[in-house]
Amino acid sequence: MILADKKILLGVTGSIAAYKAILILRQLTSAGADVTVIMTASAKRFVTPLTFKVLSKKEVYSDLFGQEDGLPHLSLLEGCGLILIAPATANFINKMASGIADDLLSSLLLSARVPVIVAPAMDGDMWKNPIVQKSISILRETGVTIIEPESGLLASGKEGEGRLAREDRIFEEVCHQFNIIKRDLSGEVIIVTAGPTREPVDPVRFLSNRSSGKMGYAIAIAARDRGARVILISGITNLPKPEKVEFISAPTTHEMREAVLRHLPEASMLIMAAAVADYRPKRPNIKKLKKSGSSLSIEMEETEDILEEIGKKNTKKILVGFAAETDAVINNAVLKLRKKNLDLIVANDITLEGGGFESDTNIATIIDRDERVQELPLMYKKDLAQIILERVMALKERDVTNT
Ligand code: CTP
Repeated sequence: MILADKKILLGVTGSIAAYKAILILRQLTSAGADVTVIMTASAKRFVTPLTFKVLSKKEVYSDLFGQEDGLPHLSLLEGCGLILIAPATANFINKMASGIADDLLSSLLLSARVPVIVAPAMDGDMWKNPIVQKSISILRETGVTIIEPESGLLASGKEGEGRLAREDRIFEEVCHQFNIIKRDLSGEVIIVTAGPTREPVDPVRFLSNRSSGKMGYAIAIAARDRGARVILISGITNLPKPEKVEFISAPTTHEMREAVLRHLPEASMLIMAAAVADYRPKRPNIKKLKKSGSSLSIEMEETEDILEEIGKKNTKKILVGFAAETDAVINNAVLKLRKKNLDLIVANDITLEGGGFESDTNIATIIDRDERVQELPLMYKKDLAQIILERVMALKERDVTNT
């Protein structure tokens, strides 16, 4: 009951996604939260207050004037630790940003001195509307947490960004606001590799790839937050060093291999999210190569395959690989899983929009050692990081049960 004793006001506004507020309410109450629902007049056209009343076991409020206690917008705030507006319509977001208080929910927000989370849901064109975006920026500036909507099929039948964020993302943000984080990885020592490797051609030039390191860093941060000791071995990236992880810079494949092998004995898991070069110049030039007026050939040699080398050792540590593919994604990933003797491989098609290297999102398929395939929708890398850790922990628990 991680939300026991937490008093939350759940504001529901008039979106087609209002029915999802029922699922959010259930998740919050099952975690022990004391939730009071406040509906706008238009929300009541989508879902009946009775549904919320039955599930929350409490009165549902929507009228600023109709209550016996006279000032519900003040009394409801007593003891309240958080206000969650889900779904929040474009109209309601614009109202919030301009400080309009013409109903119970908007009046209450003006008096509130507690964290506010807003989960927008609307049509894709409305979400992109500059006025809505301006309102979102104003809300952010005033300290409101926005849970960005997701892409997918919208009520209009069109594809676009505007779907209410998944319930588990909303739930996670609520827990985060209350400083509650699952600590299920305490005791684990996890090596995460991230980013590209650089293979020198000469003292000035190198061969590399487009990996941003975002996926590996997201895993390192998520594992740290869940209580693990994290050793992040990273190629050169533009990302800030995450706090409270042990950080080792490993620009080349050779340095990355050395660092991984050095720390492997103390680790319980290795998550190789780095985009490691497969080839490097065989004899990097000591001096800068000069233009010669004709073409240039550089002889390349294969690099060490770090994951394959460790997989063959049968170390009993959980090994997770990544496969960035442009075709036959699942087939190629399964071949890598077998060849490198992995517990889990996270494959993605880098040709898909939203699934590429520099993006904050990914469209991944997770395949485990039993070759079970889990295809995931487009999601933020930080959310995918959590799913990967869930899967890893499930494998670990299975190993413990089987021994
Ligand atoms: N990997 C590694 N060492 C290498 C190359 C890759 O440890 N020299 C790891 C990556 O970090 C990744 C997994 O192996 O977790 C798969 O990497 P990928 O480059 O997709 O696979 P390769 O086996 O190199 O196959 P190819 O590039 O031919 O698709």
